[in-house]
Amino acid sequence: MKLTRTKGLRGTISIPGDKSISHRSIMFGSIAEGTTTIRNFLMGADCLATIDCFRSMGIAIEVTDKVVTVHGKGLRGLTKPDKVLDVGNSGTTTRLISGILSGQDFDVTLSGDASLNSRPMKRIMTPLNAMGADISSINDNGCAPLLIRGSKIKASHYNSPVASAQVKSAVLLAGLYGDGPTSVTEPAVSRNHTELMLQSFGVDVICEGKTATVIPPNKMTGQDIVVPGDISSAAYFIVAGLITPDSEITMKHVGINPTRDGIIKVCQAMGADITLSNVEDSNGEPTADITVKTSRLHGTEIGGDIIPTLIDEIPIIALLACFADGQTVIKNAEELKVKESNRIDLMVNNLKRMGADAVATDDGMIITGGRPLTGISLNCKYDHRIAMTFSIAGINADGEMDIEDAECVDVSYPNFYATLKELAE
Ligand code: S3P
Repeated sequence: MKLTRTKGLRGTISIPGDKSISHRSIMFGSIAEGTTTIRNFLMGADCLATIDCFRSMGIAIEVTDKVVTVHGKGLRGLTKPDKVLDVGNSGTTTRLISGILSGQDFDVTLSGDASLNSRPMKRIMTPLNAMGADISSINDNGCAPLLIRGSKIKASHYNSPVASAQVKSAVLLAGLYGDGPTSVTEPAVSRNHTELMLQSFGVDVICEGKTATVIPPNKMTGQDIVVPGDISSAAYFIVAGLITPDSEITMKHVGINPTRDGIIKVCQAMGADITLSNVEDSNGEPTADITVKTSRLHGTEIGGDIIPTLIDEIPIIALLACFADGQTVIKNAEELKVKESNRIDLMVNNLKRMGADAVATDDGMIITGGRPLTGISLNCKYDHRIAMTFSIAGINADGEMDIEDAECVDVSYPNFYATLKELAE
């Protein structure tokens, strides 16, 4: 994909469904009783991998343009797949499904693409195995492929060393099959979609500060779900609208759950013209229309408890910092090294290649804004968030930006380039 400088991004767009919520709607719908309908489901490759996994375990899932229908078979209704479950590029599928599969009465092997099979899985194996699960790394390297042998799950408490919704969710989902309440305490609160959606499916989940506790239910009940627009996808157009001259973009019905809205707070702290309107509730998830206008920005410091609320947005925030006066410091973000790629290295190295003043640190990066950027030719290591970030960089740079593996945006935002084009016209 080749991109050159653009001015005047204008219009109102809808944002595809939230990736985290879409995954969970399939998973919980599958182990609930009755039918779950899902509107604005994200038809990205990651969420389609989750659908394939549950179909392979005997769940009927119908997909049309407008609605996904899951015919749940109850907590004990999954059946042994006759092949390896292919989780593709999706860490969320792998880690959440591992929690569910821990408590089944059959064995499963999970495997994904090269990026997925190099990401750390000990972070879920350790707490799940401590609950009585039997998960092993087939190559004994702490990564997928994973062999999960269905086991009896003991109620447990886990003090997680990382603020990770995937780790928290894996433990809570195994806890659905436990012999008593299971709780997780994390160092900072990560996204709480699992807790909110389990509650809407009728499960008792108690959230107190940094601890979430699940009481094993007798059953879960299918729901009608409308998935909010993904704030992590809106983030590319929030930043595009702020840094591209003569722009004004409105994004409709975007999720603004307080465990996900760090990017809005950062934009406000940097002096952005960003407004929220039509605040509503969608199955316990708050949503709003977000409007941004081209703004004069200044640097800021980002660290501590806000990090889990914007973890996937740090690449695009790093680009935003290149267009702000002064320095932006991002710290406590070492988790970026174990995402779909090492996002600290990939961002800093390539921003530098474009001419930016960017320095990698052990747990983040320091960016001093104001230098003009020039397009480069770039391989994103198939990381969708890196590809979208450098696309927005490309339309704000001199020369030509060439993203070699741009098709990887399909992982979370299949219409990304069409929407960008529509705003530029
Ligand atoms: C996700 C949690 C985050 C995020 C990922 C989706 C989820 O990962 O980076 O894209 O749906 O639970 P961690 O919780 O592991 O940081």
